[in-house]
Amino acid sequence: MSKRVISPGGIIDGVVELPGDKSISHRYAIIAALAEGRSEIGNYASAADCQSTLECLRRLGIEIEKSDRTVRITGAGLGGWKEPRKALDAENSGSTMRMMAGALAGQPFTSTLTGDDSLRRRPMRRVIEPLRQMGATIRSQEGDRAPLEIRGGPLRAIDYTPPTPSAQVKSAVLLAGLYADGPTTVRESVSTRDHTEVALREFGATIDGTKSAIRIHPRPKLVAQQLVVPGDLSAAVFLISAAMVLPESSLMLHNVGLNPTRARVLDFLISIGALVHIASVQMRHGELVGDVSVRHAPLKGGEISGTQVAEMIDELPMLAALGPFTEKGIEIHNAQELRVKESDRIATMAEGLRAMGARVEEFEDGMRVEGRAAGKLRGAKVDPQGDHRIAMALAVAALGAEGDTTIRDAECAAVSFPEFFVTLDKLRGAAKA
Ligand code: S3P
Repeated sequence: MSKRVISPGGIIDGVVELPGDKSISHRYAIIAALAEGRSEIGNYASAADCQSTLECLRRLGIEIEKSDRTVRITGAGLGGWKEPRKALDAENSGSTMRMMAGALAGQPFTSTLTGDDSLRRRPMRRVIEPLRQMGATIRSQEGDRAPLEIRGGPLRAIDYTPPTPSAQVKSAVLLAGLYADGPTTVRESVSTRDHTEVALREFGATIDGTKSAIRIHPRPKLVAQQLVVPGDLSAAVFLISAAMVLPESSLMLHNVGLNPTRARVLDFLISIGALVHIASVQMRHGELVGDVSVRHAPLKGGEISGTQVAEMIDELPMLAALGPFTEKGIEIHNAQELRVKESDRIATMAEGLRAMGARVEEFEDGMRVEGRAAGKLRGAKVDPQGDHRIAMALAVAALGAEGDTTIRDAECAAVSFPEFFVTLDKLRGAAKA
């Protein structure tokens, strides 16, 4: 297991072209595989999770070619997937498992979805429940965990309200809705990322209803597309935060995805004092894309709760780790979902930050990380528990600590951002040279 030592200091300075957005890449790949014809997806995510999706699709008989960051997928149409001979391995990727479960629920064969130790511990009832209501037969392990054995077929349309807001669950039901006997509706009390709706429309599906009641019409003819994935804003947030930690930093990020259901984190950063400038905004394939520049500024700190939680769910570990660099600290509530991510992100973050000397109070549904007055962080040995976002959040915090920090199994960052450490070094190196 590879560890990584982070020495503090330096200045972030430079221009970055980010790898493709992880969430959007999964969706383009799955929908392209359900479409007719050969799709070309540019700037496909380098994230290991998105390679897992491609591997699952290959096992279903889908032809996929990759060159550099472009992926070409020859779709087999809604009825063209082949019964896989082996289990489909989603590895660490919750998005792969839950969204593929939706698409597999409509297939006239049996398939098994499995994953790594972390994914096999995560809750799957949230997708099993609606897909069973639609008529799929699903066998799971104790506690509704993966592996999931899915026997699909023609499905019933449902009107479903997920008990916990989740874009993955919404997406699973909408993908299954492609195979239903009428229009399927998913209701949301809090809007979650809408990339599935946007992508399905791009490929030719009819989705109507309202923002809070999304309705998909079955059996569309999905047609191959040529698309380019925007840069991953969730990955960008780690670099933006590094610029917030290191005085005198400035950073320019090109072609970043700015979908309003994802970009709330930028509003939050601005609200606590970050200097963020957005330019050259354009719409590409239904997704907003633009250039984001940031300059270091002192942060005030603040609270995250209510609907903000679902809107910034993946950014919460990083925002918590900014706590010690703010005046008032960072407090998070209503975020119990963090406990069932790739790790228990509340416990793992609290442990990592405490090891570095931060003052942290843990709540069942969040945490409070004290601000600057609690003292400067010090380098320590930390264990992100194989969780990519925690590894990157602690690495960024380590930039502002006194002394070196050793991150155990830091290469797990590759699950979403394989270029993270190299990019960070380059940005700091550029400033040092
Ligand atoms: C994702 C949805 C979120 C998020 C995950 C990606 C997606 O999960 O945390 O990293 O691409 O739909 P939930 O649906 O569990 O909230």
